[in-house]
Amino acid sequence: MTKQPLIQLALDYFDLAPALAMTQIVRDEVDVIEIGTPLSKSAGMLSVQIVRELCPDKLILADIKSPDVGGGEAKMAFDAGADWMTVLGAAPMDTIKLALEEANSRPGKEMFIELTGIRDIIARAQEWRDIGVERMVYHRGWDEGNLSRSWDKSDWQTIQTLIEMGFKVSVAGGIGLDLIPFFEGLEISVFIIGRAIRETDYPAESARQFRKAIDNISGGR
Ligand code: 5RP
Ligand code: MG
Repeated sequence: MTKQPLIQLALDYFDLAPALAMTQIVRDEVDVIEIGTPLSKSAGMLSVQIVRELCPDKLILADIKSPDVGGGEAKMAFDAGADWMTVLGAAPMDTIKLALEEANSRPGKEMFIELTGIRDIIARAQEWRDIGVERMVYHRGWDEGNLSRSWDKSDWQTIQTLIEMGFKVSVAGGIGLDLIPFFEGLEISVFIIGRAIRETDYPAESARQFRKAIDNISGGR
C-alpha cells in the first residue's frame, strides 16, 4: 500500500448518550467518526451536530445510506457538520447524481456509495464512475454477516477491481483484528470498525491495536 489507510469508528447505537460516551473514549485514536445508520435514525442530525462539537478536528461521516431525496439528505448531513455522507448503491442514478452535486458544491464534502446488498457491483460501478463518483464503502452487511456471509477471495478481487477503476474504497462489516491481514495487498482508503472496538473492555486500546495491525500490512507510518 502507498498511502496509510484511515480508521473510522462506527457509532452504531440506538441512543445518543452511549454514542457520545464512546466518542470521548476513542476519538483520539481514530481519524473518522461515523454516525451509524441506527443512530442517525434514532437521534437524527442532532447526533452529527453534537459529535461535531465534541470532535472539531475529526472527519465525520453520516452513514445515512440515503435511498432517495439525495440532494436534500446530503445537504441535511453537511449542514449538521458531516464531512462525508453515504447514499445506497441501490438508489436511482438521479439520487446519486443529486447527492454528488450537493457534495461537489461544498469544499471538503464527499459522497460515498454504500454497497450493502448490491450484487452486480462491477457493472454498476462503471456507471457511477462515469458520473464522477470517487468513493465507496464496500460493506458486508451486518445481517448477512451474522447469518450467512463471510469475507472471501471474491470480496478481495472485487475490491481490487474497484481500486483499479479509480475508486477510493472504504471497507466495513464485522471487521475484527484477525481479518486485517485479509486486506493485505489492497490499497484500502478507510477501515471502518464498529463492534470490534466498541464492544471490548478497553475500546481506546482496541483502536490502537487496529492501527498497529493496519500499519503492519501497509508498510508502517
Ligand atoms: C451497518 C454499518 C456498520 O457501521 C458497519 O457494519 C461497521 O460496523 P461493524 O464493524 O460493527 O460491522 O454500516 O449497516
Ligand atoms: Mg455504518
